[in-house]
Amino acid sequence: MCGIIGYVGKEQASPILIDGLKKLEYRGYDSSGIAVLDNGVISTVKSVGKIAALEAKTAGKAPSGTIGIGHTRWATHGKPSEINSHPHSSHDGRFAIVHNGIIENYAEIKAELTGLGYTFKSETDSETIAHLIQHLYCGDMVKTLTMLIKRLKGAYAVAILGTDSPNTLYAIRKDNPLIVGIGNNENFITSDITAALSRTHDFVRLNDGEIAMVSADEAKFFNSDGRPIKKTPAHYDIDARAAEKDGYDHFMLKEIYEQPHAIDMAVRTRIKNKLVHLDNVKFDKAYLEGLTKIDIVGCGSAYHAGIVGKTFIEKLCRIPVDCILASEYIYSDPIVDERTLTVVISQSGETADTVAALRLAKKLGSRTLAIVNVVNSTIAVDADDVLYTYAGPEIAVATTKGYTTQVGVLYLIGLEMARILGTVTEKRYAEIAGRLEQLHDKVAETLNNTTVNLAKKYADKYADKHCIFFIGRGADYAASLEAALKLKEISYIHAESYAAGELKHGTISLIEKSTLTIALTTQSALYHKMESNIKAVKAREGDVLAVASRTNSKINYCVDGMITIPECDDDLSPVLTAVVLQLFAYYVAKKRGCDIDKPRNLAKSVTVE
Ligand code: AGP
Repeated sequence: MCGIIGYVGKEQASPILIDGLKKLEYRGYDSSGIAVLDNGVISTVKSVGKIAALEAKTAGKAPSGTIGIGHTRWATHGKPSEINSHPHSSHDGRFAIVHNGIIENYAEIKAELTGLGYTFKSETDSETIAHLIQHLYCGDMVKTLTMLIKRLKGAYAVAILGTDSPNTLYAIRKDNPLIVGIGNNENFITSDITAALSRTHDFVRLNDGEIAMVSADEAKFFNSDGRPIKKTPAHYDIDARAAEKDGYDHFMLKEIYEQPHAIDMAVRTRIKNKLVHLDNVKFDKAYLEGLTKIDIVGCGSAYHAGIVGKTFIEKLCRIPVDCILASEYIYSDPIVDERTLTVVISQSGETADTVAALRLAKKLGSRTLAIVNVVNSTIAVDADDVLYTYAGPEIAVATTKGYTTQVGVLYLIGLEMARILGTVTEKRYAEIAGRLEQLHDKVAETLNNTTVNLAKKYADKYADKHCIFFIGRGADYAASLEAALKLKEISYIHAESYAAGELKHGTISLIEKSTLTIALTTQSALYHKMESNIKAVKAREGDVLAVASRTNSKINYCVDGMITIPECDDDLSPVLTAVVLQLFAYYVAKKRGCDIDKPRNLAKSVTVE
């Protein structure tokens, strides 16, 4: 997704903007640019490709000035090109803007302005904003922006630079995140706090329809009518090093190894004396008994976490749980009312499809509970309740700790609801609570040298495959969905998750000599079923790599390779098998020379529908 950075302070803006853009690279982009204002003139430098290309273009001749804006573009309208990259300038050059999102009515505005003599250089919707600001400009920027907000339809986060306001940046947002960083005689506007963390830990999140007016020594805020509003900075106690690789080859590997700590923060800290504490989220028995169903909604890996959660919650609470893709949910006319609890899952808290699903669920009367990693993100703020995963900033586009902590929090929710409902015995509750309390240690144990070396070994052996199947039953099938996505998104190998029992109903026709099937076999009650499914693959001379529990690894006799996870409760195994298959995917992608942290075509947070 596009990234925005703005700086106003006492130092030269160009290097600060470029450094900020580097911290936003993980969001996914194809081009970038900066615009800096000095002596009444806005100088713009743009470049296709990596930030390094922009850096090379500005080397030794960076635009001078202490106020500017920068942007990483993830193309939506118009191909990746210098002319389509941001910042975009107004017709008269007095304004420059950077934009994240989609202006849905840009064509009509563009036609209107073209008719008035404005000339457009790019194919983008974003450029329309720059010209419209010039068209609406009345000498008072806040007033101008109140008129702009009324004209724009769609999703946007916009930072604005203007020659009439040589010491002040402006910003507006709707549906896309924008945050003001409050520094020491310097202030920032950014899509993501990681871009400014090295210079401040105090941030103010802009809400939909609000206007920010930011100079070096103050930040003022207004509502969409231009009335001043008071907003208090929040302190983010996040180590700036979180946005660094800390010696790892990739952010993804670093974040795989951060999972014991992340699970500790997300899960263990919420269990005290074998009792689950869901922060400020309170359920009472009457409410839970009155539920007709629980909907879990998310996208990508968040959706896969929801499938694991569904399996666990249904088993423990005996309440029907539906897990729906957010992009399908919003257009499915869902059957939802106040007897539905809707759990929305999102690492970034900004995914457009999931934001829309949350808002629809609320409109239909459902209580909404968000499981989110980014504090104060749109979904976290909009939901009735929120449980943060506390995984820390996740930079790699492919989520790892974001996913496993989402699963961990779903386990806590399911267990606590079952206790309130009385659908789990005290003994079983204490047993699962105890297991969850140890989960972070089990994750650490999974990250042992033997597992890592086996993951590398099998990655080397199978990195040239064109298609890999992942099969499992029950919680293993749920876990296989994420395993397949992880491999696909970073290695570009086609991977498919399949319910093991379903293979024989068609897909087994694709199994031929040396086709690789990765079989998750941790569910002891389904072991023999898995054994026969594996044998069916072997009968077609396919290769099978098993992921099994150390306490039940007898499947080893009939497979071509095996990686085991530490002994754990079958219900909790998806967290551990996820770690094993993250490692496998990582080393396959590494062997294939892929851009692991920033896979092609992908963005970290998809803030457009
Ligand atoms: C994760 O590896 C993917 N990059 C992607 O599927 C992601 O999970 C999805 O876009 C949802 O993002 P969110 O959790 O930030 O809402």
